[in-house]
Amino acid sequence: MSTNSSSKGRLLELPLKVLNELVRPFVGREEEGKAILLALLTKEHAVLIGEPGTAKSALIRRAAHILNMRFFMYLLTRYTEPAELFGPLDINALREGRYVRITRNKLPEAEIVFLDEIFKANSAILNTLLTIMNERVLYDGYTEIAVALWSLFGASNEIPEDPELEALYDRFLIRHYVKPVTEELWGGLLERTWAIEREGYPEPHIKLSRSELEELHKLVLAVDLEPIKPKLLKLFSTFEAKNIHLTDRRKGKSLKLIAAHAVLNGRLKAVEEDLMALKFIAPHDIDDFERVNVILSEELRTAYRFLRELEDIRVSVREVDSYVSSFPAIPSRFVEYRLIEIYRDLEATRERVLTMIKESNDEKVQRVANEVIEYIDHVMEKIKKKIGG
Ligand SMILES: Nc1ncnc2c1ncn2[C@@H]1O[C@H](COP(=O)(O)OP(=O)(O)O)[C@@H](O)[C@H]1O
Ligand SMILES: [Mg+2]
Repeated sequence: MSTNSSSKGRLLELPLKVLNELVRPFVGREEEGKAILLALLTKEHAVLIGEPGTAKSALIRRAAHILNMRFFMYLLTRYTEPAELFGPLDINALREGRYVRITRNKLPEAEIVFLDEIFKANSAILNTLLTIMNERVLYDGYTEIAVALWSLFGASNEIPEDPELEALYDRFLIRHYVKPVTEELWGGLLERTWAIEREGYPEPHIKLSRSELEELHKLVLAVDLEPIKPKLLKLFSTFEAKNIHLTDRRKGKSLKLIAAHAVLNGRLKAVEEDLMALKFIAPHDIDDFERVNVILSEELRTAYRFLRELEDIRVSVREVDSYVSSFPAIPSRFVEYRLIEIYRDLEATRERVLTMIKESNDEKVQRVANEVIEYIDHVMEKIKKKIGG
């Protein structure tokens, strides 16, 4: 099937729209929404880890509601039997010596699966789950069936400690630590939960169909990743040096997530900012989530970082401006010398801002940077006039 450029453009706008619709009823859940969208775009699995009552289940259920796909959810306990997830064995077939599972409405038929308390999985279901997640095949020792699974979502209050569960944890390419909302959002939290209490969750304005998701997945696989590869390799080393170890599976799959991050932002070419997607891949322990975030915001030339730097520059140019204005109209030789120094500094700052314009793909960065350049030019003109051209 061919996708012409206008339908490709429309398709590229879809992920952000879906993301907005997903997080609309919640406060401060944009990163969680991103984790879910990235899992869907990459056909990978995601786990949300965090204390109870942080809207983990509510978010995943809403995602399932937005998707026009078959959904199965289950709350695992240590005593969950394979039949509860994968369907019971057919007694009649068993009498004839055949093992047949009745999978109707069970996990093997679902495209989107949500397993709450995922790390309660016992050994009776663990191996079957691993094969399903990895190979999309249900193999329980007797039967081998292809399953319909697109993405499996897990939720848990904590990271598994039992080494037996490490393999399961590694299957979740996307991991996110859900923290309770911060103080400035408490007011909003009251508003939203009260609205949900009275009116229920708002009906989604948009739905995402399986075929649209498949098209989007194809776009992910077509993203140009060349520009970010050297930086990605450098980040792997930085993580290892700081004792944050990614398994080879996770290193290998990181490109796919970076590509999905580009598509989520409406691009078919990866930029440095897309390496932020590593925040969902690199962490293992709870402390890692914050550490990885810090490393990435220090290492990456992100829009956020550029905007902060531009604000700093704007403040210092303002200071220089009033300093220059405070000089007498006919300056002494000494003042002239100082003004020339300041002029040279401004020239260097101007170069730096021009570099930011070149390095960033972000519209807001470009706009703010151009404002700052205008301001710098204005102050440079002022200096020229003072020293007589
Ligand atoms: N950030 C939030 N924004 C809006 N509602 C929230 C938020 N966090 C929690 N809630 C409310 O609390 C309820 C409990 O969330 P739930 O999904 O059951 O939590 P969890 O699965 O993390 O234990 C949600 O249905 C929602 O009404
Ligand atoms: Mg829950």
